Amino acid sequence: MAVGKGFSTRAIHHAYDPRQNEGALVPPLHLTSTFTFDTAEAGGEIFAGERQGHFYSRISNPTCDLLENRMATLEGAEAGLALSSGMGAITSTLWTLLKPGDEIIIDKTLYGCTFTYLHHGLEKWGVTVTHIDLTEPETLRAAIGEKTRVVYFETPANPNMRLVDIRAVAEIAHEAGATVVVDNTYATPYLTRPIALGADLVVHSATKYLGGHGDVVAGIVVGRAEEITEIRMVGMKDMTGAVMAPFNAMLVLRGLKTLALRLDRHCASAKVVADWLEAQPGVTKVHYPGLESFEQVALARRQMDQPGAMIAFELEGGLEAGRAMMNRLQMIQRAVSLGDAETLIQHPASMTHSVYTPEERAVHGIGDGLIRLSVGLEEVEDILADLEQALPTAARIAAE
Ligand SMILES: Cc1ncc(COP(=O)(O)O)c(C=O)c1O
Repeated sequence: MAVGKGFSTRAIHHAYDPRQNEGALVPPLHLTSTFTFDTAEAGGEIFAGERQGHFYSRISNPTCDLLENRMATLEGAEAGLALSSGMGAITSTLWTLLKPGDEIIIDKTLYGCTFTYLHHGLEKWGVTVTHIDLTEPETLRAAIGEKTRVVYFETPANPNMRLVDIRAVAEIAHEAGATVVVDNTYATPYLTRPIALGADLVVHSATKYLGGHGDVVAGIVVGRAEEITEIRMVGMKDMTGAVMAPFNAMLVLRGLKTLALRLDRHCASAKVVADWLEAQPGVTKVHYPGLESFEQVALARRQMDQPGAMIAFELEGGLEAGRAMMNRLQMIQRAVSLGDAETLIQHPASMTHSVYTPEERAVHGIGDGLIRLSVGLEEVEDILADLEQALPTAARIAAE
């Protein structure tokens, strides 16, 4: 089937032909754990990698294959691998790339469970984990050494929205022979394509914007075919077993069809909300890449097609004021996760990033008063109205 090259066209049609599937418009769901072989010899050849074919759904499955192909094209990568969760994608990738004695250099701020996996997990197995401030790429030149195998970061970072210049970091990392892994969960390939900027592998929590409806936990890694095969056959098959269920692949495939449409609306609303928050007297700081006041606004314009829909902000009165405000909300839901149709709000220090110790949070730039908002798809006027009735007023602060 002739397919156009636009982002949404590929998100809807890529790698699927209804004529090869009884005319089914929507790709079939292959609910099967195993696959039959025509002959014993054919089975042996498939196992040996000498013949194409599926044999067991912990290694590959046609529904997951389709998702992997679509994500690869959207990210501009050779190949993809679908996993059971974002953490499944991250751990399967890093278990494959690293061995005892290697070093991984990571950015100062990372999603809480990634931070724990590295510090409380990989370090136990003899991997050196070094944090540096990758918002200043030159710090990497000083830190990187012979043992550095991987440079890993999120951009924008969860939860404080710091950006990392992918091109600048990849150049320095590659000079030293290190592999660059980018967590692109916040931006999605609709807003940022790290591979075109020099990254080697891109990981995602597909639980977020890619799925988009808060009904699935899923992960993806994309990159060069050879590396993806290794992650499939080592990290996923043998080390984590973090396999995506075919039904979940279907949900993410469905989400991808409307990714561009949803993100246009998410981003437009987030800009309105960020502008509005910045003008409120009780709000001391708004971190959003679409604001002129955002420290890295130039990089945001260069690297992101739109500034995304995640906002972090701080209130006068810190954590207590933030908790009181969150408790007054009526429509906006108090929940972790992000990228859903519903606007979600959470407090990183006590929720998603509570696995950091208070000292670690201070070092890694996660303020105790920081509030994280995932701007949803409701009417933006309703989002503003709920925030307005919940924000602390001077009278409220005096009374509380
Ligand atoms: C940036 C980022 N990476 C990875 C993950 C982990 O993804 P999952 O919850 O799908 O395992 C999350 C989850 O919140 C995240 O925000």
